[in-house]
Amino acid sequence: MGTGYFITGTDTDVGKTCATVALMRLFQQHGTTVVGMKPVAAGCMLQDGQLKNADAQLLQANASVAVDYGLINPYAYQQAVSPHIAGKHNPVVTATVQTGFDQLQALADLVLVEGAGGWLSPINAHEDNSDLAKALGLPVILVVAIRLGCINHAKLTYQAIRHAGLPCAGWIANGTNPDMLSQDENIGTLKTALPAPLLGVLPYQEVVDFDALAGELTRPC
Ligand SMILES: Nc1ncnc2c1ncn2[C@@H]1O[C@H](COP(=O)(O)OP(=O)(O)OP(=O)(O)O)[C@@H](O)[C@H]1O
Ligand SMILES: [Mg+2]
Repeated sequence: MGTGYFITGTDTDVGKTCATVALMRLFQQHGTTVVGMKPVAAGCMLQDGQLKNADAQLLQANASVAVDYGLINPYAYQQAVSPHIAGKHNPVVTATVQTGFDQLQALADLVLVEGAGGWLSPINAHEDNSDLAKALGLPVILVVAIRLGCINHAKLTYQAIRHAGLPCAGWIANGTNPDMLSQDENIGTLKTALPAPLLGVLPYQEVVDFDALAGELTRPC
């Protein structure tokens, strides 16, 4: 297995980046060095002649050591569409991601890899995030946005992670919707439904404070 975690979610926009940065802060608070990787990103902006993505830049800013942007985000697509479409002329090659991941592994104790979209979201014409996580050999952390429909999405994603033969090191409940009714009951149901440890419940925050979010998490085994 690789040394680190693959962070997936029940969907796009569920809090994978927020949870990843919170986990990075948590590990750092315990003296573990960590770097983040967002190997595949769509919706990038040209900055200083290089396409860059906000998620990858946040991971870069929170790394324990200085890391070149290109190593964190080897596939940066301008169009905000699925990578298998955005990357038609420069498709993701898993072996290239693996090479970058190996280089990052040499820089820190742990590499946290944020997926693109959800677990089965395509990364190229014939592979999806599950194939990438398998290639990297990483245990998976599942971020669940607590909203209507999340029980179905969380159970399906958990089953697919296990079907891929990877361990689920834990899941994180993310309170992205302040108006969600019966949040605690939903989290209780998920605790019973998902046979993996709950690493923490992230509250809704008007202004996201990563150290405060880190304080709500426990480190995965
Ligand atoms: N606990 C929270 N409280 C308030 N806002 C949150 C919380 N978690 C995430 N958000 C907000 O929700 C949005 C989506 O979060 P985030 O970018 O982490 O999701 P993601 O799963 O990484 O998305 P993507 O699929 O684009 O990578 C962001 O605007 C983020 O600031
Ligand atoms: Mg993200």
